[in-house]
Amino acid sequence: MGWSISDVHDTTPQNAGRSRVGGGYEAAVRRIWRHAEPGSPDASAVLRALVHDATLAPSSHNTQCWRFRLEDSAITLLPDAQRRCPVVDPDDHHLFVSLGCAAESLVHSALAHGWLCEPVFHGGADPSLRLALLPTVALRTPLFEAIPHRQTTRADFDAQPLSTEELKLLEAAGSGPGVQVHLLTGRQAIEAVGEFVVEANTAQLRNQAFVAELRHWIRFNGREAVRTGDGLFSACTGNPGLPTWLGRALFPLVLSERKENERYTRQIRSSAGIAVFVSQRDDQRHWIEAGRAFQRFALQATALGVRTSHLNQPVEVAPIRAGFARFLGVAGGRPDLVIRFGRGPVMPRSLRRPVDAVLV
Ligand SMILES: Cc1cc2nc3c(=O)[nH]c(=O)nc-3n(C[C@H](O)[C@H](O)[C@H](O)COP(=O)(O)O)c2cc1C
Repeated sequence: MGWSISDVHDTTPQNAGRSRVGGGYEAAVRRIWRHAEPGSPDASAVLRALVHDATLAPSSHNTQCWRFRLEDSAITLLPDAQRRCPVVDPDDHHLFVSLGCAAESLVHSALAHGWLCEPVFHGGADPSLRLALLPTVALRTPLFEAIPHRQTTRADFDAQPLSTEELKLLEAAGSGPGVQVHLLTGRQAIEAVGEFVVEANTAQLRNQAFVAELRHWIRFNGREAVRTGDGLFSACTGNPGLPTWLGRALFPLVLSERKENERYTRQIRSSAGIAVFVSQRDDQRHWIEAGRAFQRFALQATALGVRTSHLNQPVEVAPIRAGFARFLGVAGGRPDLVIRFGRGPVMPRSLRRPVDAVLV
């Protein structure tokens, strides 16, 4: 997924994220992007603080496709079927990856509050992920500290390589049970991924249903972003605010295949490398593990001052995904996510719905 109103768009480091948005947006950012302090030792206040941290995780189109059920000493994560994206994500792969991202943040947040937990997946007709909380010594890890600072940074990076030490830390963070991360740092390999991105992005932009679904999740101004607390806020991509009616009318008209592809190519070339997450098996359990591995990777990157951004087009268009898997030398598994990384500017933050909106 990617878009920009390209004629007015500028994500160069000197311009990224400078202007005031208004509509209550700045206050919402300050309220959302911090660790929640439970305020009281009351168990339910602590559980709500953990849920808040979990909701700061990334989700496809910022749908926040998760719900949380609180018990005395357990939290269960459930998919929110109302927030599916049937066009870009027909098999709910991204939905389960997003659940995995939230679960991973919850694990780190729980530890910081003195609870040990390991997510257990229950499949079947009503899949869920249960995290039983066991008391332990509280530990604030660098990954926990990174939770309110992580963002998807849709800007140019500085094209500088990372050190071997940094790459090792990212590789360790991005691997998990049944999930492997492939780090591509050679220019030839990065260019080859760029060609897959352009081919898949072109296919997506020619699909009217894809464009309509994307438009449904775009928030064209600060007021709309604050009102819904979800979706893709235009400022996060470096676009100016527009009245909702105007943004919705202009969106399909200003999406330019050529400019989008040029922008992706430039952004890929500005990156230090590309990480591809691959599940050994193509099922919900592994998609959740891929989400957990990606979230560890993103938090580790944040802790190092390294930014991450998605280039998932080659894994979203099924016929291209098969060729992409062959390019990676993957047989039998599924390439889940394609992430570029490097150093770059901070972009405006995306928003979240309040904890009460995600509790069942
Ligand atoms: C499974 C998954 C797929 C995603 N795909 C894309 C993508 O293709 N393009 C993109 O720009 N962002 C993508 N994102 C990033 C989300 O749009 C982003 O997490 C969300 O808007 C919230 O913003 P934040 O990560 O800055 O908190 C994806 C995130 C997840 C978890």
